[in-house]
Amino acid sequence: MREKVVVFTGAGVSAESGLGTFRDAGGLWHEHSVYDVATPEAFARNPELVLSFYNERRSKAAAAEPNAGHRAIAELEQGFDVVVVTQNVDDLHERAGSSRVIHLHGKLREARGSDHPEAVRDIGAEPINLGDLCERGSQLRPNVVWFGEEIHHVDAAVREIRAADRLLVVGTSLSVYPAAGLLGDAWNAREKVIVTLDLDDPPRGYEWRRGKSAELLPGLVAEWLAFPPG
Ligand code: APR
Repeated sequence: MREKVVVFTGAGVSAESGLGTFRDAGGLWHEHSVYDVATPEAFARNPELVLSFYNERRSKAAAAEPNAGHRAIAELEQGFDVVVVTQNVDDLHERAGSSRVIHLHGKLREARGSDHPEAVRDIGAEPINLGDLCERGSQLRPNVVWFGEEIHHVDAAVREIRAADRLLVVGTSLSVYPAAGLLGDAWNAREKVIVTLDLDDPPRGYEWRRGKSAELLPGLVAEWLAFPPG
């Protein structure tokens, strides 16, 4: 029976692909106020600003390449039953080869109707402009979870985290809820490792491997694959 591994990731795993994190120096939330670009109120107040913020992030994400950290996570599937639960909205895990990825905060490459969340379409790297409507007739918006909105796939994520034998947390400040709170459901994990650069207060019960994920994950994954469970 292959052990179950949940890999819980945040913006840090995509940093070495050239995509900005949020709370690091120079991060996205230092350049923009969340309240101007990442809330439903912001979209109602100034849709063009919000659309252009995500159009820029979408084209950057499409131009980025998965890094050695994403690829190492995908390689874990050679010896384990792996699910990636990510806060990220880029598709670098999928492009690195991870076959099961749960996006808690949505996907940059998807658009949805602003009044019809079920009307979702894949737009790849294309921009969304004012006047672009979904098939139900409402203005298209990014299928990304804004502050104050429900996160996606919580039940599936909790189910996977509860069943995990090992938990690998990568590149997240664990500062945004409810996403970070889901890790409290990892009752069964006998091994919990966090790979990240800075943590205000490291969560209890985790081994913290401090460093860049693209540098540390290949070695960690090689270790885990060398000694898969008996
Ligand atoms: N390797 C590993 N970790 C890194 C790297 C790297 N190369 N670069 C940065 N980090 C770490 C930082 O030390 C920090 O702990 O990644 C984390 C990034 O934290 P945040 O910028 O807060 O990103 P994240 O935790 O993903 O934010 C969660 O907040 O604004 C919302 O929706 C947004 O999904 C996002 C959520």
